[in-house]
Amino acid sequence: MMPLTKPARSLQARPSLDSIYADKAALLTSHLHVLQERLLAPSSTKELRSFTSAEAARLIGVTDGYLRQISLAGEGPILERSPGGRRLYTLAQVHELRRLLARTKPSYLPTRSGSEHLQIIAVTNFKGGSGKTTVSTHLTQYLASRGFRVLAIDLDPQASMSSLFGYQPEIDIQENQTLYAALRYDDMRLPITDVIRPTYFAGADLIPGNIELQEFEHDTPRILAGGHRELFFDRIATSLANVDDRYDVVVIDCPPQLGFLTMTALCAATGVLVTVHPQMIDIASMNQFLTMASGLLSVLREKVGAFEVDFNRFLITRYEPNDGPQSQIVAFLRSLFGDEVLTNPMVKSTAVSEAGLRKQTIYEVSRDQVHRQTYERAIESMDAVNAEIEDVIKSNWGRAKA
Ligand SMILES: Nc1ncnc2c1ncn2[C@@H]1O[C@H](COP(=O)(O)OP(=O)(O)OP(=O)(O)O)[C@@H](O)[C@H]1O
Ligand SMILES: [Mg+2]
Repeated sequence: MMPLTKPARSLQARPSLDSIYADKAALLTSHLHVLQERLLAPSSTKELRSFTSAEAARLIGVTDGYLRQISLAGEGPILERSPGGRRLYTLAQVHELRRLLARTKPSYLPTRSGSEHLQIIAVTNFKGGSGKTTVSTHLTQYLASRGFRVLAIDLDPQASMSSLFGYQPEIDIQENQTLYAALRYDDMRLPITDVIRPTYFAGADLIPGNIELQEFEHDTPRILAGGHRELFFDRIATSLANVDDRYDVVVIDCPPQLGFLTMTALCAATGVLVTVHPQMIDIASMNQFLTMASGLLSVLREKVGAFEVDFNRFLITRYEPNDGPQSQIVAFLRSLFGDEVLTNPMVKSTAVSEAGLRKQTIYEVSRDQVHRQTYERAIESMDAVNAEIEDVIKSNWGRAKA
């Protein structure tokens, strides 16, 4: 009879997987910053470029001539000038002008008031690479540039959104500085205000992520099995209640799995965006996601009641309009889900992917960094998607469309 032990493949001492990985992780940790320094400006100096007067006027919704008048009258902020003497506006100055104009016409400031409730938008799907981080980050920046007060939450232990905002997860984000600090079950728990940081993009704050978020996935089953009366699903909602008056919209970038982090985000959400790349394999995967999420939410519904949302929308990502099969899949989804599929898809563009490689969004690259037509098409698509989401938000507040 053969022994049931694992046969050795050779007589040489073989390395164990844990030591191989520990070794590689140590090497990467000690050398990654060299590569990052070469590729990126240090995070502390990540700065948003200034906007031309035409761009600033478009953001505010006035004419360039009107902005010139304000400047000539000596009102508004003191502006930087381009080498050619043209007026340049920082995003903070755009916000300052909005506040100035809102004194006579309040609609220049879109922040919520009265019964308009905080919008908490979870961007989710467990398919990796479906565009969650790209959508969350661009939506956050678009809304901030429109004058909304936005809090972005990076709920993904991979922390790609934090990197896009210029925070390097291994270097800039220390222990207990992610949302985990506000969710944890032990006495290290912190108020959510302790983990909110400003970003280089005026109007957008960030709760960064890093690998410690994964602890929530391990802690929660232990707490549940221990028969504690602690609840997991309302932890994000309860934390956010403490900063309700500081923001108009919260955007949560979920990890690519349907664990406790994602479930907690779904339970807090007033709106959900499911990102979907239009390919058969992605549709099949989304189907599993919807089935599993529905199952888990219905278990919770039996215990604590239903989780109601203002909206759920499917957002087509990395869309290639000339790709026949993709168009068929989009048509198929629209025929099944109707208005729940956003009218505007996020079109695939090298402007987006190349900016992503440099840890940038297309809202921060300037027109002259990319081929002009490529840039304009990418911005147009990104703006169309985000404007449609802005309309959904406003209609939930009972406001008319822009
Ligand atoms: N519209 C687009 N055009 C071109 N490339 C895109 C576009 N949207 C996303 N990408 C690229 O696709 C890749 C995956 O996108 P992203 O990181 O947003 O997906 P994700 O769902 O957050 O992934 P993960 O599941 O790993 O968190 C990235 O390299 C990103 O730059
Ligand atoms: Mg992501």
